[in-house]
Amino acid sequence: MAHDDRELQYARAHSTTDSPLLRGVSETTHRELECPQMLSDVLDGGLLMAFVHATRAALVLEIGTFSGYSSLAMASALPPGGRVVTCEIDEATAAVARRHFDSSALGERIDLRVGPAIDTIAALDGPFDVVFIDADKTGYRDYYESVLPKLAPHGVIVVDNTLWGGRVLDPSEDSESTRALREFNDHVLADERTECVLLPVGDGMTAIWNRQAI
Ligand SMILES: C[S@@+](CC[C@H](N)C(=O)[O-])C[C@H]1O[C@@H](n2cnc3c(N)ncnc32)[C@H](O)[C@@H]1O
Repeated sequence: MAHDDRELQYARAHSTTDSPLLRGVSETTHRELECPQMLSDVLDGGLLMAFVHATRAALVLEIGTFSGYSSLAMASALPPGGRVVTCEIDEATAAVARRHFDSSALGERIDLRVGPAIDTIAALDGPFDVVFIDADKTGYRDYYESVLPKLAPHGVIVVDNTLWGGRVLDPSEDSESTRALREFNDHVLADERTECVLLPVGDGMTAIWNRQAI
């Protein structure tokens, strides 16, 4: 039951539009970087902004910076004093993101850490109000396990690509990333510490939060 193109166009047209800054980031990314399809768009970005706004996030952690679109979107929804720590493993990609951060006052709210995300997470105490997991798919379970103990009581973990273009439900698809995403989705659903909803937004975005004691 995929959304058809007209529905998606309508959804985008009825979502707050990208700021000139985010439009510029998107254009530069398409011009300068390989794999521009890794970029978030107005729907993913809008959902992330809603979580940052609703949790009044003081600290956001992003795993997978790329060119900085989602970092800047989340930074724009922070209350005064809030910050985004964003992790990127590739120095050349990080340089593009840094340029985008430096071009805006929002950049002052963003702390870009270059290196394997798992090491950066280990060095952070939290508590994280919003965590956005959007890096190497085989690392998702480790990222989830390492951020969950540092999640604020009312925090939300948002995980991108959980539908993986439909490959997670195609038995003929057996790449390492596809298997990792299937296992990740099953692991989260079975985890008694948390509750989750897998939203068919973009490439699949799962929101996860601490289970409330009843
Ligand atoms: C899908 S892109 C992120 C897109 C970005 N969040 C956005 O919405 O515009 C994934 C990024 O994660 C980075 N990455 C991959 N493995 C990583 C790792 N182990 N640690 C940190 N970053 C990593 C990649 O270099 C890439 O830039």
